[in-house]
Amino acid sequence: MTTLGAYTHSVESIQGDHRHLKARLTWLHDQLASAGLTSGQTDRELAEMEAELEEHFTQEEGGGFFVAIIEAAPEASEKVQELLRQHRQFRTTFRALRKTCRWACGESGTRAGWMAAFAEFHRAFDDHECTEHELLYEALQRDVGAAD
Ligand SMILES: [Fe+2]
Ligand SMILES: [Fe+2]
Repeated sequence: MTTLGAYTHSVESIQGDHRHLKARLTWLHDQLASAGLTSGQTDRELAEMEAELEEHFTQEEGGGFFVAIIEAAPEASEKVQELLRQHRQFRTTFRALRKTCRWACGESGTRAGWMAAFAEFHRAFDDHECTEHELLYEALQRDVGAAD
């Protein structure tokens, strides 16, 4: 069995995570944008989202996902390093968003600034996941080719 094949379970579970996180983040963004959550609900939702993101990043970093991609496509190494750097950045950014999430329920320009920061996180996270899908697709193609 080739390397990536050995991680089929991990790859499927990460793809499932991506669908789930994408849907959850979009739902949360919509709720925040329409001021549909109370301050307490916002606190809880941001804390849950942070925990899910942390679980996802940890799984990608420790579950062999990136290792398998680099083994199948060694030239992807630099892109993987960049993805790992982005994980660190996302952790810092989301922690700050969670700690200041009451601003999302305020009325002043603080709310607009907080929403802009959340939108930027959402956009960067979507880009990140897209890059992971592209890398995974390329590595899987390579893996299938190597198995022929
Ligand atoms: Fe990631
Ligand atoms: Fe991911």
